[in-house]
Amino acid sequence: MDPTAHQHIQLNGGADLQGFRQALRILSWSNIPNHQINWSANTAPDLFGGGQLPSSYGAAGKPIILPRAVADLIRLVVCHSDPEKYALLYELVWRMRRPKNPETHLHEVASDKLVAKLTAMAKSVRRDLHKMHAFVRFREVNDPEIGPRFVAWFEPDHFIIEETAQFFVDRFPSIDWAILTPKGSLWWDKSELAIGPPGTRADAPEFDAFEIGWRTYYESTFNPARTNLNQMRQHMPKKYWRNLPETQAIPQLVHAAASRVDRMIEQEAAIPVKRNPAKAVAAMAEQGPASLAELNQIIAKADPFVEGSARAVLGEGPIHPAIAFVGEQPGDQEDLQGRPFVGPAGQLFDRALEQAGIDRTKAYITNAVKHFKFVQRGKRRIHQSPTAGEIKHYRWWLQKELDFVQPRLVVALGASAAHALEGKALTIRDHRGVHTFPGEGQAGFITVHPSSLLRQPTPDDREREYAAFVRDLACIRDLIA
Ligand code: URA
Repeated sequence: MDPTAHQHIQLNGGADLQGFRQALRILSWSNIPNHQINWSANTAPDLFGGGQLPSSYGAAGKPIILPRAVADLIRLVVCHSDPEKYALLYELVWRMRRPKNPETHLHEVASDKLVAKLTAMAKSVRRDLHKMHAFVRFREVNDPEIGPRFVAWFEPDHFIIEETAQFFVDRFPSIDWAILTPKGSLWWDKSELAIGPPGTRADAPEFDAFEIGWRTYYESTFNPARTNLNQMRQHMPKKYWRNLPETQAIPQLVHAAASRVDRMIEQEAAIPVKRNPAKAVAAMAEQGPASLAELNQIIAKADPFVEGSARAVLGEGPIHPAIAFVGEQPGDQEDLQGRPFVGPAGQLFDRALEQAGIDRTKAYITNAVKHFKFVQRGKRRIHQSPTAGEIKHYRWWLQKELDFVQPRLVVALGASAAHALEGKALTIRDHRGVHTFPGEGQAGFITVHPSSLLRQPTPDDREREYAAFVRDLACIRDLIA
């Protein structure tokens, strides 16, 4: 590509993430400044085109490595309805990577006008996603060809339907459903998701037999002690009310709120306190920590999700490191000293790091599970592996932690860490080595846990496995060099 020529980039309508990423790679490697680019997108969303650039743009381009926060920002802003979005995003990446005076950490400069604008756009998309997750209501229709299907109507502000699709697939995997919007539609038939053309409100039913069920559910979950009409309107804007069966119950619930609160106060002492880890995680998500320090405070104060120690061992190391190592959980020594990897496995790990030429103090080190899970045998506390459910409960913390830390490469030490990072169990035997973790395609590496070296049956086995571990670490060192 001629770096002095003016470029015209035509992307698909809607949210063309694939097309934009491809253009970004090609333009960025060719050092084309933003003022030489004319970005345009088709007016209607092209939901079937697949976002390819014309072949005249040549090969797809070498991947460019961007901080995770920038990748997240791109994913969200691309969904925005403002046609300027591609030019603004490219300007950010260009300024971060331009050959002369690159502003490598520009995305962290909240006072920069461009960063502020993009952050506000991402926030608006996030809000729209949240509204869609909360306010889509399915109504049953009887399709003569396929039988019952559940159909919902929703009006998003931005092009978010593809971004939100997995959320609904995960929640409603076993029914046929469709979500119609003026910006495109989603169709799920219990095995495949299709993205279709825009729909109209008239295509979706206004009422179904479960309407009463929704209302009863809402009435039973409505907390009269939290009644705040202004906030309700803010969180559930009137625009969505027509789609929500439960809104018809609001006037009467608000009217009765004061007397219900009095009754609740009388009854409160009788309600048993029950720990529910899933709710605890959801509550933490609501709290939305704004920094790693805030997240750590939440973790330190929270109840453990495992039977064992109540002391949380937090991650340690610099922010924005080249590498973050994720272990399984603190052991006996880690629990006593309040630091990760300081016991026997930690000492072996330190030796291997040194041999591989990796400076531990420059890496971030944490665990998938933040508390020591053990059973007491006499004076000894015997380590217990976390279950899949326990790993899942801690996973939100780990992801949030890595979002703040933003390592270039995440290394899973052992199967529990790999499980936590991948979101499902992986065998080390089949996945050892370079790996891409889900989400924003986090660059990663999977290797054994150092404690597995201590458990080898013979000295020969131990030596062989230790050498293989050091080789993995050396490979990691080369990857980030
Ligand atoms: N094993 C781990 O996985 N983490 C530690 O912190 C110590 C041992």
